[in-house]
Amino acid sequence: MWSSGVFALLLAVWTVKADSCWRDTACDGHSGPAFPGTWDTYMYAPRSRDVEPRFILTLDNLSSTSYNGTVYLDGNGAQAVLDFGREVGGITSLSYAINGTGQLGLAWSESKNYIGKMSDSSNGLNGYDHPDGHLIVNFTSSSSGFYEVPLEQMRGGFRYLTLFLLTTDDAAIEINDINLEISFQPTWANLQAYQGYFYSSDDMLNKIWYSGAYTLQTNSVPVNTGRRVPFVTSGWANDGILGNGSTIIVDGAKRDRAVWPGDMGIAVPAAFYSLGELDSVKNALQVMYDFQNSDGSLPEAGPPLLQQGSDTYHMWTMIGTWTYVLYSNDTGFLSNNWGRYTAAMNIVYGKVLDSGLLNVTGTRDWARWQQGWNNSEANMLLYKTLSTGAELANLMNEAELSSSYENRARKLKTAINKHLWDLDHGAFKDNATETMLHPQDANSLAILFNVTDSEQDQAISEQLTGNWNAIGAVSPELPGQISPFISSFEIQAHFLAGQAPRALDLIRRSWGWYLNHENGTQSTVIEGYLANGTFGYRWNRGYYNDPSYTSHAHGWSAGPTSALTNFVLGLTVTGLAGSEWTLMPQFGNLTFAEGGFSTSLGKFQAAWNTAQGNDGYNVTVSTPEGTSGTVLLPLLNNTTEARVMFDGEASTWTAGTVGKLRGYVKGVGGGNHTFIVCSPWKRLRKCSPK
Ligand SMILES: *[C@@H]1O[C@H](CO)[C@@H](O)[C@H](O)[C@H]1NC(C)=O
Ligand SMILES: *[C@@H]1O[C@H](CO)[C@@H](O)[C@H](O)[C@H]1NC(C)=O
Ligand SMILES: *[C@@H]1O[C@H](CO)[C@@H](O)[C@H](O)[C@H]1NC(C)=O
Ligand SMILES: *[C@@H]1O[C@H](CO)[C@@H](O)[C@H](O)[C@H]1NC(C)=O
Ligand SMILES: *[C@@H]1O[C@H](CO)[C@@H](O)[C@H](O)[C@H]1NC(C)=O
Ligand SMILES: *[C@@H]1O[C@H](CO)[C@@H](O)[C@H](O)[C@H]1NC(C)=O
Ligand SMILES: *[C@@H]1O[C@H](CO)[C@@H](O)[C@H](O)[C@H]1NC(C)=O
Ligand SMILES: *[C@@H]1O[C@H](CO)[C@@H](O)[C@H](O)[C@H]1NC(C)=O
Ligand SMILES: *[C@@H]1O[C@H](CO)[C@@H](O)[C@H](O)[C@H]1NC(C)=O
Ligand SMILES: *[C@@H]1O[C@H](CO)[C@@H](O)[C@H](O)[C@H]1NC(C)=O
Ligand SMILES: *[C@@H]1O[C@H](CO)[C@@H](O)[C@H](O)[C@H]1NC(C)=O
Ligand SMILES: *[C@@H]1O[C@H](CO)[C@@H](O)[C@H](O)[C@H]1NC(C)=O
Repeated sequence: MWSSGVFALLLAVWTVKADSCWRDTACDGHSGPAFPGTWDTYMYAPRSRDVEPRFILTLDNLSSTSYNGTVYLDGNGAQAVLDFGREVGGITSLSYAINGTGQLGLAWSESKNYIGKMSDSSNGLNGYDHPDGHLIVNFTSSSSGFYEVPLEQMRGGFRYLTLFLLTTDDAAIEINDINLEISFQPTWANLQAYQGYFYSSDDMLNKIWYSGAYTLQTNSVPVNTGRRVPFVTSGWANDGILGNGSTIIVDGAKRDRAVWPGDMGIAVPAAFYSLGELDSVKNALQVMYDFQNSDGSLPEAGPPLLQQGSDTYHMWTMIGTWTYVLYSNDTGFLSNNWGRYTAAMNIVYGKVLDSGLLNVTGTRDWARWQQGWNNSEANMLLYKTLSTGAELANLMNEAELSSSYENRARKLKTAINKHLWDLDHGAFKDNATETMLHPQDANSLAILFNVTDSEQDQAISEQLTGNWNAIGAVSPELPGQISPFISSFEIQAHFLAGQAPRALDLIRRSWGWYLNHENGTQSTVIEGYLANGTFGYRWNRGYYNDPSYTSHAHGWSAGPTSALTNFVLGLTVTGLAGSEWTLMPQFGNLTFAEGGFSTSLGKFQAAWNTAQGNDGYNVTVSTPEGTSGTVLLPLLNNTTEARVMFDGEASTWTAGTVGKLRGYVKGVGGGNHTFIVCSPWKRLRKCSPK
């Protein structure tokens, strides 16, 4: 009895150790995946918060050898490079024994290109004059002990750790127990507790989905670990206070470690459909409202950075408010911030001129070169701000305000199409007087935000492919550069235009290229890169021509994660917390897909399979009772009729439309449903399951 009691106690202690939240953070119940299955092997996230290096790299050509738990550095200048095998972030610790005096140096980097005695750049200043450098541990006598990186010097994102010895008396050091205590996703006891999943016949797409999800985990951080501002002039410091709560979503793991609402335009849907964790989002939005300026404008970035002067990021906070409320049904959050929201609406709508177009005066934006005047990207954002504002006003029971926002949206749509559409080119111009530049951002957002008709959708989707090279979409508004952030909007635009093969092509050529890159993290999505495939994103746009400054784990590039769920699997939330949803799969060249996500109402799951070839396919969907859905199933060879076994009942369906897409349409309630779709001339028996 006694001994088994002790055993149980030991086991309990051991379990707590294996599954723990970050330091003194309270766990929020994320103890395991909501949809466990074989797809879990795609997760880049380790289960445990404590991880060891996986490999040690040879110094001559950086090839991998296995790591056996001990690193031995003998003599002045000896060094070793450890590879965690994927992006990680947090506090490194180790134990050591040294037989003399000297210094141990530690340096970290995300990309293989910047391995060395100096860490990659992150502190915010020019990395050539103000390098991040390395940490040093001094040994003034032969000794042994334990070293842990101080909290404020946490490295938020890295894959490689370089250790080196400096000694004047020919010392040698033995290093053991190298451990990384992961600091991100601080409230999860089990880092694999995803509330969503995706699995398809395309291995590369599955990996891309999970790399976006993992990136968002690395961007969900303890609120007291933001980049320090003012920037430190040497080394780095991550002790900035980002907001309230236990966890908050920032732009990047290594940097900038600040809340950026525009980035959240991609990061939030991707996080919701994969991780299913919205506290980080709520805390990020709340801090933007808490720091609203007295004129109603919202900061471009959260504290301590508190960058100001961006109309587009101002609107992204407002759009993000709608997104968050849609996913969460947190109307309490909305009421608490409603006065601030309407003040934000007033200041931005006050910038609309007689032409009917917004005149941008807060000209900071994502890295596009030009912003200001009646820029088309900003006008697309205003359209979405107004149309989602109308929905939010309804939730607040302000019917009059809602119809006023709706009218403004309608008028703006007319003005945008009148002044900014370039009929000859089949795309929107950068502004009313510009003739040459047809930007990737505004054109993608126009389709995504429904400023267009179907003919425009087809023209834009086609026109956008003109920007592509072998490794992605080169953005005309940031020439020579590839932005997986803006491309995250573009892929959604292609899907909405019914052009799944195009969307999948861009996902594979851009995200696939990075995920396979021998020098990348092979586990996360990158902030941006150059058209020629080097990592010098924004080298000539505020990034000091310092390619090591690039973030290799940037949530704004996670668009494929939500897009694959929304458009390939086809499952999307359209009413509060999933009370309404759509299932509109697009097969591309895949033969099966399945996946799901969770809301406060329960689990949502779908699957489809085209194994019956061109003669048909089957689809299943399972959603909480009480919800209602619209199902739009792909046409068979463009036939307008199909035989469908719907929940076991045979019937003939004719084609219809939902929005701008055509297919076989059905409204269904919650619960489980099965559709087996066959060509009309097949005897139904043939396409029934055996
Ligand atoms: C562990 O690997 C290091 C080099 O990485 C080597 O020096 C050492 O001998 C190895 N130890 C054992 C026990 O294999
Ligand atoms: C990876 O980096 C190495 C060393 O910097 C370089 O030689 C190699 O070309 C890079 N690989 C790619 C695919 O860029
Ligand atoms: C280590 O020693 C160097 C001088 O050799 C000194 O500049 C540095 O401050 C010391 N670092 C620590 C952490 O004690
Ligand atoms: C430490 O040990 C190494 C051999 O492992 C030896 O070469 C070196 O001389 C020693 N240094 C001191 C200061 O004792
Ligand atoms: C429009 O915005 C620009 C700045 O982008 C500003 O200089 C100009 O005064 C504004 N025009 C009007 C009519 O408000
Ligand atoms: C219109 O857009 C072009 C291209 O981005 C830019 O060069 C020009 O300055 C813009 N015009 C105004 C008035 O802002
Ligand atoms: C898109 O706009 C049209 C009107 O221009 C409207 O009929 C349609 O419902 C909108 N679609 C969505 C999904 O909001
Ligand atoms: C890639 O493009 C950048 C910017 O134009 C240039 O500085 C760099 O040398 C190019 N690198 C290669 C490998 O072509
Ligand atoms: C949303 O929240 C409100 C108030 O908390 C509640 O009455 C309503 O049932 C919820 N709706 C859904 C779909 O969960
Ligand atoms: C789908 O097409 C892409 C690009 O053409 C190709 O790489 C992939 O292997 C194809 N997948 C299947 C399942 O045919
Ligand atoms: C759908 O088709 C696949 C492949 O033929 C089959 O394995 C699966 O059982 C079918 N599902 C349903 C619900 O018919
Ligand atoms: C659809 O088209 C393909 C190729 O054109 C053909 O092989 C197949 O039999 C057609 N299926 C139906 C149901 O018409």
